[in-house]
Amino acid sequence: MGDNGSVWLPDPGTALAGEVDSLFWFVFWTSTVMFAMVVLAKVYFMVKYKRKDDRDVPAPVEESKILEAAWIVVPTILVLIVFTWGFDVFVKLSSAPPDAYQINVRAQQWSWEFAYDEGATSYTELYVPVGRPVKLNMTSADVLHSFYIPSFRVKHDVIPNRYTSVWFQAEEAGEYNIHCTEYCGTQHSGMNAKVVAVSEEDFAAWIAEQSQDLPPAVLGQQVFAQCQACHSIDGTPGIGPSLAGIYGEEHEFTDGSTAVVDDDYLLESIINPMAKIRKGYQPVMPAGFSALSQKQLDGLVAYIKSLE
Ligand code: CUA
Repeated sequence: MGDNGSVWLPDPGTALAGEVDSLFWFVFWTSTVMFAMVVLAKVYFMVKYKRKDDRDVPAPVEESKILEAAWIVVPTILVLIVFTWGFDVFVKLSSAPPDAYQINVRAQQWSWEFAYDEGATSYTELYVPVGRPVKLNMTSADVLHSFYIPSFRVKHDVIPNRYTSVWFQAEEAGEYNIHCTEYCGTQHSGMNAKVVAVSEEDFAAWIAEQSQDLPPAVLGQQVFAQCQACHSIDGTPGIGPSLAGIYGEEHEFTDGSTAVVDDDYLLESIINPMAKIRKGYQPVMPAGFSALSQKQLDGLVAYIKSLE
């Protein structure tokens, strides 16, 4: 994920991100100039006033009222500029326009779920229309997470039993990384997604397509995006076992018992992951998947059965 990693800030993807950057660079450059002035003055004075022999006695120093006033007044003005400017940007970042398009975001170890008003749901891609304000209403199913879109300069904690929100207006069609920035367990670093900003027409078409009734295995494949951080579909073991071609296999569990993989076993392992722990794996799968709808569960089972 993400080929735009850099020590520099990614290009701002919203107008407000540009304002955040302006403020950031103002603080950065005033700090840099003041730091340079202090260090240069220090070096100059160290050389100029170095004690040259034991009998050196410095002349008494007369204070300069102008100099003293300057170092009180100038920093005070700078701090007030940063405060008013920062407050202005903060208020803009915290207040979504009332006509914003709203999307519900649910964080769960270790994936994001994006639910749209029209009934569509997505997991690894957050579809948004370009040129229209979008507000995300976010909550968590388990622990603290934090939702971060570096290109949009928006970031907010996502908290269980409470709603928080961010808003943005993408300026250009494109893809932008989403990261979880609150350590939330084993697969925290894999808890990524991306914003896919598309034109209004493409967005409407995508919503219409998603809201249709899909064949169970196709729906299941979409839902499975939530599982990919831990379960591969190509045979590679991860945090959890790979699900490639497991249907019909005989599995051995940590308590020594065995079972053949059938529909019931798959469903049980999704909604009650502690019931059977595969030998060689830790009991770390989150319990939250029991909150999926029956349709989504049926879809997942159908999809896993179809894997070869
Ligand atoms: Cu979710 Cu880190």
